[in-house]
Amino acid sequence: MEKYVIQGGKPLRGTVEISGAKNAAVAIIPAAIMVRGVCRLENLPQISDTDTLLHTLTYMGAKVNMINPSTVELDCTHVQMDVLPEDMWVRTRKIRASYYLIGAMLGRFGRARTTMPGGCNFGVRPIDQHLKGLSALGADISLSGGFINATAKNGRLTGTTVYLDKVSVGATINIMIAAATAEGRTVIENVAREPHIVDLANFLNSMGADVRGAGTDVIKIRGVKQLHGGTYALIPDQIEAGTYMAAVAAAGGAVRVANVIPKHLECISSKLREMNVEVEEGDDYVLVRRDGPLHPTNLKTKPYPGFPTDMQPQMTAVLCCAPGVSVVTEGVWNNGRFKYVGELKKMGARIEVEDQSAFLQGVDRLTGAVVRACDLRAGAAMVIAGLAARGETKIEDIVYIERGYQDIVGKFRALGADMRCVDEPDEAQADPACVSAG
Ligand code: EPZ
Repeated sequence: MEKYVIQGGKPLRGTVEISGAKNAAVAIIPAAIMVRGVCRLENLPQISDTDTLLHTLTYMGAKVNMINPSTVELDCTHVQMDVLPEDMWVRTRKIRASYYLIGAMLGRFGRARTTMPGGCNFGVRPIDQHLKGLSALGADISLSGGFINATAKNGRLTGTTVYLDKVSVGATINIMIAAATAEGRTVIENVAREPHIVDLANFLNSMGADVRGAGTDVIKIRGVKQLHGGTYALIPDQIEAGTYMAAVAAAGGAVRVANVIPKHLECISSKLREMNVEVEEGDDYVLVRRDGPLHPTNLKTKPYPGFPTDMQPQMTAVLCCAPGVSVVTEGVWNNGRFKYVGELKKMGARIEVEDQSAFLQGVDRLTGAVVRACDLRAGAAMVIAGLAARGETKIEDIVYIERGYQDIVGKFRALGADMRCVDEPDEAQADPACVSAG
């Protein structure tokens, strides 16, 4: 199996270009189903999740024309439902974002059929708020045989007011997509405010939708009959950028993290500064430098503009190397999202998890080991730990990392890391807590 091999301990230096945002791409590609005409998407990340969704659209009858590796023209004028073969469903259900097909199909066809979503395995991931919102818009929803079936009464959804009981990125996006072509006005209250929510709203508006308020906690949508073609460039990936920033913090050195929106990185930058890492903001880049010892700190994840849960494992890996006591608390996912700590412990990290918090006693240096990527961000945390560690680290199950990081090996190698991808049999002792899944 393919794995990453890292000889740690080399400071990182140079410039890294951040790719388009994965979590914007996985919402915008399904939303393109609703567009009648050619929709040109620029700054798409080249990752396996976007490949899978583009394949799904191809099977549905979309014309997918790759202009260059990060630009695609999609023509969904003649897409159909009920045409995906079984093996495509097996692939599609591996990505969490397949649930956006429900909103998009309802918006386009007035009915939807898709698999129950998969995604990174860090515990129970309910979709009750998605279903509540879509039902409020007039969809009859039933679950059977691992599939979700939904039908709009009278063939078209109808605008209404939806209050989300829990701030949910996915539910906000799904309802927003479905409401874009619903009859009348939809108001969604207590919505998520992540940068990719704003990006999706901007995408929909550039295709003729009328979505206002994205980035605040109330989104108002006036439904339009149909969406038309256009061109849209995705925002850079906040979490990919944060991952490289965290890597510099852990391994030391000085890196220009380019093609970013520094405002999206503010909470990460200020946390790194508390840890004795210099972060200087430019117009579309941040300069990250760490020469001295790391300082311990506490952090708690929250919905945007709070500290992102998708940076929690990476920051935990950095704090393992900050002498002193740090506490990391997960405030978004109820299950703590700490399945990976057993892997960090294999590298000499001192961490105890209790309920929603990890208590860390930082060590001077981690030591290389054979570890596994339990999920996408946990895998990124292993890369960071490996770059900072003394000796060799092998990371298995890298398929999870490649779902969300474009050319991670090439980008770290360009910064001077000794990292390569090899194909050899697995060696890691399976930790039952770190069970990888779709
Ligand atoms: C999105 O997942 C991201 N995925 C996740 O990133 C990210 O961790 C998460 O938002 C939070 O920021 C994508 O965008 C594809 P949620 P999502 O609905 O939408 C609860 C990564 O690493 N909840 O905001 O699935 C839920 O259990 C991935 O890139 C309900 O109770 O997350 C959680 O506690 C992993 N009912 C909280 O809300 C629902 O119907 C936030 O979940 C939906 C969610």
